[in-house]
Order: sequence, then C-alpha cells, then structure tokens
Amino acid sequence: MKPRLEVKIAGLKLKNPVMTASGTFGYGDEFADYVDPARLGAVITKTITLHRREGNRPPRISETAAGMLNSIGLQNNGLDDFIKNKLGAYKDPRIKLIVSVGGETNAEYGRIVRELSVFKQVSAFELNISCPNIEYKDKIIAQDERLTREVVKEARRNTRLPLIVKLSPNVDDIAKIARAAQDAGADAVSLINTFLGMAIDVRTRKSILGNITGGLSGPAIKPIALRMVWQVRNSITLPIIGMGGIMTARDALEFIIAGASCVAVGTVNFVDPGASLEIIAGIERYLVEHKFKGINELVGSLNVS
Ligand SMILES: Cc1cc2nc3c(=O)[nH]c(=O)nc-3n(C[C@H](O)[C@H](O)[C@H](O)COP(=O)(O)O)c2cc1C
Repeated sequence: MKPRLEVKIAGLKLKNPVMTASGTFGYGDEFADYVDPARLGAVITKTITLHRREGNRPPRISETAAGMLNSIGLQNNGLDDFIKNKLGAYKDPRIKLIVSVGGETNAEYGRIVRELSVFKQVSAFELNISCPNIEYKDKIIAQDERLTREVVKEARRNTRLPLIVKLSPNVDDIAKIARAAQDAGADAVSLINTFLGMAIDVRTRKSILGNITGGLSGPAIKPIALRMVWQVRNSITLPIIGMGGIMTARDALEFIIAGASCVAVGTVNFVDPGASLEIIAGIERYLVEHKFKGINELVGSLNVS
C-alpha cells in the first residue's frame, strides 16, 4: 500500500509536506515549465509589501562555498499589482498558495492580510518578520519578542486564514520568539530565514554585495537550521515548517524527524528547478522502505535514547 503523504497543518490540508520557500520560486508561475505547483504541498510566494519596492543595490547574489548570499531587499511590485497581475494565475483549486507578507509597520501587515483574505486562491499567510519596523527605530521584528507579539496580533485581528510566522535565525534564542508567536495567535511557525553574512572581493576590497551584507542560505546553514527546528519543537506546540539548506529528500527527512511537519525548499530551486518533486518522490520511497504508513509517524520521531 502507498504510504500517506498528506499533512494537516494550521488548518490546511496539504497533499504532501513539501513547499517552495519564499523568494525562491517567484510567485509560482515562473517555474511552471519545471514544476506543476499543484503537485507541491504548497507554494509560498516571494514576500509582498503594501507598496512597490525597488530592492537593494546590485549585485544582489553571490555564490559561496556551500550556498549563496542574497540581498534582494524584498523587491516587489506591491499589493495592488499582486492582486491584479499574480493572483489570477491561481485558478487551479488544487494549488495551495501561501502568501508571504512583509511590512514596515504593524498596520501594513494587517492591511495586506485583510485585503488578501477575500480571495479564495489564498490559503494562508506566512508573516516574514525579518523586516525592520520603522515605528521602533528600524528594529528587526523577529529579533524582539514584543514586536513579534504585536505584529502577529495585528495580523490575527485582520484575518481568519491560517497565520504562519517565519522566524529568523539571527537571534540569541529562537525558541523565545517562537513562544511569542504562539502566544499571539500564530497557527504555525516556519524556520529558518537566512543568516546574515557577507563576502569581500580582495582585489577591489569591496563587498561583493551592493548592500554590503546579505542573507546566507543553502547547505552551509542546514545543521544550524536543523538544531533550531529541534529546539523550537521542544518549546512550543505549534506545527513547524522546517527549511534551511534542504537539497535532497534525505535532508528533508532530517527536518521531519527533528520535528517539522512540513519542509520548504529554497536555494536548491536555483540549482535544480525540479528538485521539489524529486524530494517528494524520495520521501515516499523512504516511507515504503522503512514501512511507515504515513509521513505523520515520522514527525518528531528523533531517537534520543
Ligand atoms: C534569492 C532568495 C530570496 C529570498 N527571498 C525571501 C523572501 O522574499 N521572503 C522570505 O521570507 N524569505 C526569503 N528567502 C529565504 C528563503 O525563503 C529561506 O528561508 C532560506 O533561503 C533558507 O532556505 P534554503 O537554504 O533552502 O534556501 C530568500 C532566499 C533566497 C536565496
């Protein structure tokens, strides 16, 4: 018998536990030639903001020994453009679309989730809280329990759709922020966003990224991401979407065993746009080989004896 890959998370019913991570799969449409979004557990969009953003100074991408640095700076065309030009592509009801939301103020998050909640194509929101809040001297929301609580509460007041809060690894205690998100009414957490990093061109003695620093992703961050998933799993009761350097089904399985109910794949999409489908197939093969009836049996099954 085929093992069950279906997952229920935050009130969503997903056909499998594999999603594409925000910012690495566009809005789903750009990759349609490689991956039918309907075959994925869910597609998480690139982060959208209320107003159009130009993004950071180029260069914005740099390859590293085991991953990549990016400083895209949330470049996007804003909420209205997303509604007008992107949402229409999601006619297929089999696609689960999770919209990633960013903002400079709590009100901005609230307004975006409120306006998007009326569209039946939208299944849930992921709050990208690795953004500076201009009302608090540009403090990064995800680095502060109180700011995290406030933004989640504001989003909660404005939508009944599931809220997934995306945690940043650039903190001293990620479990503390996860608890703040849970207390404020989140339905799930996703982790991790990128690590702050940089790279220098020694010829010019300039930083390779126009923004000087950027976010590190890919295989280099996997062991740390995995440790953080494990830590969060032991600190809250909400379901977890794990990500950070997942390139293969085996990587994905590690996250699931550590406690993630679902996984998201990011950087690997740039290396192999079809990787998400291979990861789904690999997870299924593992379940068959190890005689599991379904993926849920594996979640958080780490043997610590
Ligand atoms: C080019 C690029 C763009 C990204 N854009 C976003 C974004 O818009 N919003 C967000 O929450 N995360 C963004 N991320 C972070 C990813 O969603 C993911 O959390 C991170 O890259 C770790 O997963 P990975 O190692 O599999 O890439 C971006 C990552 C990359 C590489």
